[in-house]
Amino acid sequence: MEFSIKSGKAEKQACDCVIVGIYESGKLSPAATSIDQASNGFIANVLKQGDMDGKLASTLLLHHVPGTQSHRVLLVGLGKGGEAKTSCYRKAVSASIKALAKTGTKHVASYLLEMDLPKECVTWKTAQFVEAAQDSLYHFGVMKGQATQKDQSKKEKIVGIDIYVSDASATDAAETGLQQGLALSSGVGFAKDLGNLPPNVCTPTYLADQALAMVKTHGLTVQILEREEMQKLGMGSFLGVAQGSVQPPKLIVLQHLKGEKTDKPVVLVGKGITFDTGGISIKPGAEMDEMKYDMCGAASVLGTFKAIAEMDLPLNVVGIIPACENMPDGNAIRPGDVLTSMSGQTIEVLNTDAEGRLILCDALTYAEKFEPALVIDIATLTGACVIALGHHASGLFSNQDTLAHELISAGEQALDRAWHMPLWEDYQPQLDSNFADMANIGGRAGGSITAACFLSRFTKKYHWAHLDIAGTAWKSGKEKGSTGRPVPLLTGFLKNRADKLNN
Ligand code: BES
Ligand code: MN
Ligand code: ZN
Repeated sequence: MEFSIKSGKAEKQACDCVIVGIYESGKLSPAATSIDQASNGFIANVLKQGDMDGKLASTLLLHHVPGTQSHRVLLVGLGKGGEAKTSCYRKAVSASIKALAKTGTKHVASYLLEMDLPKECVTWKTAQFVEAAQDSLYHFGVMKGQATQKDQSKKEKIVGIDIYVSDASATDAAETGLQQGLALSSGVGFAKDLGNLPPNVCTPTYLADQALAMVKTHGLTVQILEREEMQKLGMGSFLGVAQGSVQPPKLIVLQHLKGEKTDKPVVLVGKGITFDTGGISIKPGAEMDEMKYDMCGAASVLGTFKAIAEMDLPLNVVGIIPACENMPDGNAIRPGDVLTSMSGQTIEVLNTDAEGRLILCDALTYAEKFEPALVIDIATLTGACVIALGHHASGLFSNQDTLAHELISAGEQALDRAWHMPLWEDYQPQLDSNFADMANIGGRAGGSITAACFLSRFTKKYHWAHLDIAGTAWKSGKEKGSTGRPVPLLTGFLKNRADKLNN
């Protein structure tokens, strides 16, 4: 797919389809007005007949509109405009691209940058347009049989979208947004692919190989630690989870060092359970296939590295991915086992299905070695977080309020939101154990909070935030698939930080 930035009149564009917006009030966007005038009121007439009411994300496809040079004109509802929330813009973009994907349209001219959004600039609108368009057109077909793949590739596809700025003076701002949007969608697409791959393909070794491949393509430094090295480091908690699987565990360490030598790095830690059966505390069978998504934290770290490498972000960032499977086996850990973590703290395993925190705690201790400016871990950690927040917001926990606020605002900007949850001392006693320094579960009440409390015991030496993405990393049901979240939030956070450091 090729995007380019252009300027010019809507009725003059000779392409397969021109996209223009209509507000709920019946008001036409400037490009719609221009087509209306060139066609002697054709658009106004369509509205009068009641075929399009401007409701947000509604669409109406018109063919051979008089006075225009394109085969089609797609009218898209922009909703109320003016007071419109920024998320409406993304909905309008997605709806138009999805509507056109069902037609024979190949070349598109979009005039949606015109949408009236008091808070957003041309750069933001362009970046969001590109990301939303790529997101809408995403398709995971590599595991289909060859015949199906051939059929699919025969279908007409959108190959080019020209994004029109209303004034040529906005071209530079739009070009900047285009580059940002392309880098971001490349990271989001990568995270989605990794999430969607089946667990017999996407193993810890596969994740490690994906990271290694980025050394050549994206100029990163990558190191893979094997079981023996982790044993030497004393990672008894991580290795405890890994011991029930025939797949060897990997600790993947990525470094993007494009900041000043003296700048301390941001460290991203991603949960990389490539399949979570629950272990000996085995999960019920229904929807267990979805536990292939239990490496989406890892995928979001890899996706974010891809995006920031493509943006060439002047910042030091380290990624740490503990990757293994959680399997029941003769050699698997049992409820009642006590593990010694790299920090020296001991953990009584009361439920082998609370494995995410067991692999993360050693990765979080390992992070100390990089003298981080701050650490963010990203994990599909608890079903309880899905109960608390549903599928719209990731759970955010932090031992530092400024960091929490920066992440929340980055999420709002990127339309990839997180919600601040408590991490009060009051919850800590739920992790008391009679036999070890702590238990790995804290009971049903506040399950996402006690999971975060567990991690907080390993992050005392630095500023830290934890994103529980159990509800946001993938969709279930008919649209089952990985979302690529929270790559937009993380990339936006890092971009803001680079902008601040370098201005
Ligand atoms: N990977 C799961 C969390 C999860 C569950 C994410 C369902 C998305 C949907 C995690 O490893 C897990 O099993 N957590 C347990 C913790 C419990 C045993 C304290 C859970 O949430 O049930
Ligand atoms: Mn589990
Ligand atoms: Zn898990």
